Amino acid sequence: MPPQTALSSLLNQVGQPGLLAHWESLSTPSQERLAQQLTSFDWDQIAACRQLAAARRSGQEAAMPLDLSTARTPPCHRLGEATAAATAATARGQKALAAGTVGAVLVAGGQGTRLGFDGPKGTFPIGPVSKATLFEILLGKLTAVQRRYGQPVPLAIMTSTATDAATREFLTRTNSCGLDPDQIFLFCQGTLPAVTDNADRLLLDAPDHVAVAPDGHGGMLGALAARGGLDWFKARNCQTLVSFQVDNPLAMPLHPEFLGHHLLSDAAFSTQVVPKLSPEERVGVVVEQAGVTQVVEYSDLSPALAAERLADGRLRFFAGSIAIHAFSHQFLEQAAATDDSLPLHIAHKKVPYLNDAGQLVEPAIPNAYKFERFIFDLMPLADQVTVVEIDPAEGFAPLKNPQGAPSDSPETVHQALVAHARRHLAAAGMTVADGIDVELDATTILDDDDLRRPAAASSLAGNRIDKPLVIRSG
Ligand code: UD1
Repeated sequence: MPPQTALSSLLNQVGQPGLLAHWESLSTPSQERLAQQLTSFDWDQIAACRQLAAARRSGQEAAMPLDLSTARTPPCHRLGEATAAATAATARGQKALAAGTVGAVLVAGGQGTRLGFDGPKGTFPIGPVSKATLFEILLGKLTAVQRRYGQPVPLAIMTSTATDAATREFLTRTNSCGLDPDQIFLFCQGTLPAVTDNADRLLLDAPDHVAVAPDGHGGMLGALAARGGLDWFKARNCQTLVSFQVDNPLAMPLHPEFLGHHLLSDAAFSTQVVPKLSPEERVGVVVEQAGVTQVVEYSDLSPALAAERLADGRLRFFAGSIAIHAFSHQFLEQAAATDDSLPLHIAHKKVPYLNDAGQLVEPAIPNAYKFERFIFDLMPLADQVTVVEIDPAEGFAPLKNPQGAPSDSPETVHQALVAHARRHLAAAGMTVADGIDVELDATTILDDDDLRRPAAASSLAGNRIDKPLVIRSG
């Protein structure tokens, strides 16, 4: 532990002497905890956070809204169309999967605050019949890919300080949801301290701890690089990496046609979108302006711009991002080697803090700024960006809100999963009685081909399902 004088002089230098306010009353382990945290901070980065907070406070930052006057929705491939381009893309994607050159990154650091669930979101039970968790469904899809193509898909899972221990415990308890533990690289994203809304101070949330928050899913880039994840993928010959979010059990990150469009266009960055139908949908939109493609977050798009429509009735900015991105490994490596390739985003939040009397205050209104980085901000740095539109009924059922909410809730996700299963079963010649929940087993059913395999058919009597059932393939 550095001597108190060294810590005092560091904190004086960075204008935060108040963080030692309780030092004298701390036990030695608590002093060590605080000293460790203070000396691990990147104070240049914190200075950048404070500058951004000052700009937000003085109105300068908000005074520069995005000028999207000449922006448009970029051209998109449509997944599943019967075209020669789609056939070629599917073949290319299958070749990459069979060669084992594709890796995946699952971002699972969010705390599920909006969902009101006490635990990592990935452990939320969502399988309509099996009650399988989001992790089991999403990791199960990697098992299905391996069964089909004969190669494992190396998977990095990003946790945060809030979800790391519980996620590790869950993976141990579930035998890594059926994956080989060597196939998984678990890493914890970083944090950034909150800054008071006068842009002045960091806050203590315990006498021996500075209030910090996860640094956003963009923290994936720095944390993957720093913890050896990019090298881990390289050692496994993963030339393409696909990132996806833990909240979408219908996600198709390894869809061969998507991967094929990415590879055939030689893109550094490709992304899946769904048609955004109403201006209020809380999805970022992919836009292109002056040759630069980027995601504009829903909170950054003015209601008027969000509502603008094209002559054919579609929204002007209709390419809704579902946060499934493919990158070339080389592109991520280059971006990670460049300081500040991802900008900071700022949000005004309620952050509990210790007052001068040492009591914990839970503020009723926002009192501080939190900072995050978004992985999609790498998009403008890519020479080639490829956008692939998918049918949301096939690949997007996000779980964001608590039971009873009108959208993105456990009920709406349940309905979407059951409707998806019924549709595919019908296409395979099976009928499901009205009102019956059915589920396609993620680990054995990758696509309709698996529904034609004998074990699936033999689990049914006369091709008719009249009780809740999980359909498995042989
Ligand atoms: C996100 C996207 C939005 C997209 C939508 C699709 C952002 C800023 N916005 O919105 O463009 O249209 O999903 O569903 O991402 N996470 C971490 N660490 C963090 C913060 C988040 O791992 O520090 C993970 C969460 O676990 C989750 C994902 O990132 O898997 C998305 O986070 P969330 O805050 O739910 O994003 P949305 O606002 O829903």
